[in-house]
Amino acid sequence: MKFGFRLLIQRTVLGFTKSPNPNQNRNLHISASRILGLRCAINQTHKPCQNWGRFRSFPVTYYSYNKPNYVADYSTTLESRVNEKNFESIYVQGGGDLGKTVGEELRLKGIVGSEKIESCEEGVGRVETVAEKEAWRLLREAVVTYCGSPVGTLAANDPGDKMPLNYDQVFIRDFVPSALAFLLKGEGEIVRNFLLHTLQLQSWEKTVDCYSPGQGLMPASFKIRTVPLDDTKVEEVLDPDFGESAIGRVAPVDSGLWWIIMLRAYTKITGDFAMQERVDVQTGIKLILNLCLSDGFDMFPSLLVTDGSCMIDRRMGIHGHPLEIQSLFYSALRCAREMLAFDEGSKNLVRTINNRLSALSFHIREYYWIDMKKINEIYRYKTEEYSTEATNKFNIYPEQIPHWLMDWIPEGGGYMIGNLQPAHMDFRFFTLGNVWSIVSSLSTPKQSNSMLNLIESKWDDLVGHMPLKIVYPALELEEWRIITGSDPKNTPWSYHNGGSWPTLLWQFTLACIKMGRTELARKAVEVAETRLHADHWPEYYDTRSGRFIGKQSRLYQTWTIAGFLTSKMLLENPEKASLLFWEEDYDLLEICVCGLSKTGRKLCRRGAAKSQILV
Ligand code: GLC
Repeated sequence: MKFGFRLLIQRTVLGFTKSPNPNQNRNLHISASRILGLRCAINQTHKPCQNWGRFRSFPVTYYSYNKPNYVADYSTTLESRVNEKNFESIYVQGGGDLGKTVGEELRLKGIVGSEKIESCEEGVGRVETVAEKEAWRLLREAVVTYCGSPVGTLAANDPGDKMPLNYDQVFIRDFVPSALAFLLKGEGEIVRNFLLHTLQLQSWEKTVDCYSPGQGLMPASFKIRTVPLDDTKVEEVLDPDFGESAIGRVAPVDSGLWWIIMLRAYTKITGDFAMQERVDVQTGIKLILNLCLSDGFDMFPSLLVTDGSCMIDRRMGIHGHPLEIQSLFYSALRCAREMLAFDEGSKNLVRTINNRLSALSFHIREYYWIDMKKINEIYRYKTEEYSTEATNKFNIYPEQIPHWLMDWIPEGGGYMIGNLQPAHMDFRFFTLGNVWSIVSSLSTPKQSNSMLNLIESKWDDLVGHMPLKIVYPALELEEWRIITGSDPKNTPWSYHNGGSWPTLLWQFTLACIKMGRTELARKAVEVAETRLHADHWPEYYDTRSGRFIGKQSRLYQTWTIAGFLTSKMLLENPEKASLLFWEEDYDLLEICVCGLSKTGRKLCRRGAAKSQILV
């Protein structure tokens, strides 16, 4: 770990108008700095430096309005550099006495009125880029308060948007990267408030044509409304939307799962374990679990949902058992198992969770996974096999393998398909489901590595000009017409149908950190950084390689902003990132409730799965 000094000279333009003349501007900057002095936050929580003066290199970083920041060696005098640049701020980073010397030089030359030097660990105290600084400002501006306390962030906060629809609401899924950004910054209050307030909304009575959703459902979003109490007083109320107003009237299955995941992230990062022990929080977890674990007609351990019940919240042919929901379900079960108070009352529930986790991981690892070898197997499948011994259990007709896939699948990579139903495999690559199966260890370590290999070798298709494609490839022509219902927002390579969503960067970063492939995440963050800032933080990008800002994309989309910040902070704090992912749970591999091994009638296939994982 490197240590260094940071000396920050921040120009503050309050009360000054920007001049078109760069020279005038420069003078303005300097005089502004003189008047307002140097501002540098000293973070009391930083660990004291152990190695003062260890690093002798002394880079000087300039930031300017129109030019990208750059680093120059401290070889010419600072004064000449300052005078030739139209600067916004100067950051001087370095170690030892040199830091103090430069600070003193700046002060003596009258460039700054006062100076402070902060010692910092590189990473924690790293200087923010222009994009990061703007992102933090925008994220804070998107914060919504309820009775004076911060409770969430707006989905989008574009002052120029005259038709915000429901983008002026706090979405549960959208808040996740905001929550992480705040938590990683050491600000837990907003996350705690969010978790407790959404908990109160959990059992709110809402109906669609006199039918209400199941108890335990978390809303997709909520809005704070001001309601008049009498002529003089008003009251603020939290108004949830469970799908009864949402386009398509879909209940958000992912909300409750994300809520549980967020709760665990909150307790892990803040250490506030009392939060998860609260009676109302324990009840909230159980209500969500009861809803997900209740018996139905299903033969599979995966969760059966309608189309559009997650991030893709419009018709896109993902009804059934979409991978995204299964990955979130798996990690929510793992989180809940960790957080439930273990007593007589929860014993059975924990047993049910363990059985489901075990069955679910087997199911996904075995039947959703495809690579060259597996595709070749499917290609040669026999069909109409009637027996419990069938190889082609779901009666998949080989003709279903799409042409694009035969050429696309790389030698050293593989992925989880999007969905599995009787006689139907959805071969599309869905990014969130795949990266979250890495994060949650729903996939085996070998599969996780192969998925990242695939993303690396298909970089132009999945990252291109903007990370990351929500799904690859897009539905076109007749398929688009039938599957999306001719949705004009989901045209090929736009929005949910093959658009590129920068918010997916943080989940990808987490997966890369977990698998020791940070170079991939850094590369993606680099692709995103300049463009997002220049393009005003769009919600999504269009075209095959993500070259254009999305047709109907919102600007100043909060989860784009927060996803970028979270990715950066995760890369800088890998030890914190490790609190947010899961390793393989070897005990789960031992669980088998099918009873086959006991009867000796047949071999339980789960034994084979175990040996696969340990490879
Ligand atoms: C869109 C997205 C959805 C998101 C919402 C708010 O509807 O499909 O995932 O939560 O916008 O940003």
